[in-house]
Amino acid sequence: MSADLRTTYMGMELANPLVAGASPLSGTIDGLLALEEAGASAIVLQSLFEEQVEHHELSVHSILEAGTDSFPEIHNFFPGLDDYNTGPESYLQMVEEAKRQLSVPVIASLNGVSRGGWIRYARLLEEAGADALELNIYFVAADPRVTSSEVEARYVDLVGEVASTISIPLAVKVGPYFSAMANMAQRLTVAGASGLVLFNRFLYPNISLPSMKVVPTLSLSSSYESLMPLRWIAIISSQVKISVAASTGVHTAQDVVKLLMAGADVTMMASALLRRGPAHLQLVLRAVRSWLDEHEYESVAQLKGSMSQASSPHPEAFERANYMRTLVDFTVASPDPRHFYARRDPIPWD
Ligand SMILES: Cc1cc2nc3c(=O)[nH]c(=O)nc-3n(C[C@H](O)[C@H](O)[C@H](O)COP(=O)(O)O)c2cc1C
Repeated sequence: MSADLRTTYMGMELANPLVAGASPLSGTIDGLLALEEAGASAIVLQSLFEEQVEHHELSVHSILEAGTDSFPEIHNFFPGLDDYNTGPESYLQMVEEAKRQLSVPVIASLNGVSRGGWIRYARLLEEAGADALELNIYFVAADPRVTSSEVEARYVDLVGEVASTISIPLAVKVGPYFSAMANMAQRLTVAGASGLVLFNRFLYPNISLPSMKVVPTLSLSSSYESLMPLRWIAIISSQVKISVAASTGVHTAQDVVKLLMAGADVTMMASALLRRGPAHLQLVLRAVRSWLDEHEYESVAQLKGSMSQASSPHPEAFERANYMRTLVDFTVASPDPRHFYARRDPIPWD
C-alpha cells in the first residue's frame, strides 16, 4: 500500500504537503485551477499589498474630494501599480471566485509592515471566504535610530492586531534576518500566529552600470537555498506548538522530504513552479510518494520532524558546532591551498 501523504496545516487537513506559495501563478483563477489540477493541496494567493490598498484609498479619496483625478502624483508613485494584480476590490472578488471554483483551501495573502487602515482587509478577506490568511511582513530596517527591539515589537504588534480581527488561522511569513530567530518565533506564536512561513526571500537592489541606476532584481531560487529554512525549521518546529511551512528553495522531492524531516508541516513552492509550470507539482508529488514507499515510511506524519533538532542524536549539528567542523573538514580534505584556486574561473571583464 502506498504511503499516506496527508498532513495538517493550521488545523486544515491537506491531501499532501505540497502547497503552492504566493506568486503570479496564484494571482489568477486560471493559475489557481492549474495549480489545483497539478496536485497543490492548498494555495496561497499572490499578495494584496499595503501599498495597493493605500494607493486605492488615496485615488478614491482624490476623486471624491475633487470630483476629478487631481493628484496625478498618486499614479506616478508606483507606476504600473494599477496593473499589478487587481487592486483591493477585485482581490476580494478573486477570493470569492477562488472559493467557488476550487476545492482545496485558499489562503489569502496580505503583504505589509505598518499598522494602518489596510489591516481591515484581513477581516474582508475572511468574509470573502478565505480559509486562512498569510501575512507577509517584509520590512527593511534602514533607520539607524530604530533598534532591533523596536523592529521586533513592530512585527509582534502587527501580528497581534491582525490576529485579533479575524477568526480564520493566520500564518506569518517572515525573512530569516533576526538576531534571535527562535525567540521571534515564540513571540509571533504568542501574538496569535497559527503558522510560521519560514522564510520569505528578500529581493535585492542592484546597480546597473550601463544605465547608472539602481535597479531591482528578481532571480528565481535554487534548491541550495532550502538549507536556510531547513536549519531553522529543524530548530524551531519542536519549540513552537503552531504549524510551520517551508518556503524558499523547494524545487525537488528531495527538498520536500528533507524539510518534512526537519519538521515542516507543508512545503511551499514558487520559483520551481514559475520555472517549470504547475505540472511540476505532479512530478514532485509522485517522487515524494516513491521515496516514502522505497524507504518504508507509511506516512508523511511518520516522516515529519524525524530529523528535527529535538529528535536528532546530534542537536549541535544545527548550531555553531557544525560551522567549525565543516570548515575543518573542508580544509583537511584539501590541504594544498592551490586546490581552491585551481579551477581558473575566468575573471569577469577579463
Ligand atoms: C515573481 C514572484 C512573485 C512573488 N509574489 C509574492 C507575493 O505576492 N506574496 C508573497 O508573500 N510572496 C511572494 N513571492 C515570494 C514567494 O512566495 C516565496 O516565498 C519566495 O519566492 C521563496 O520561495 P521559492 O524559493 O519557492 O521561490 C513571490 C516570488 C516571486 C519569485
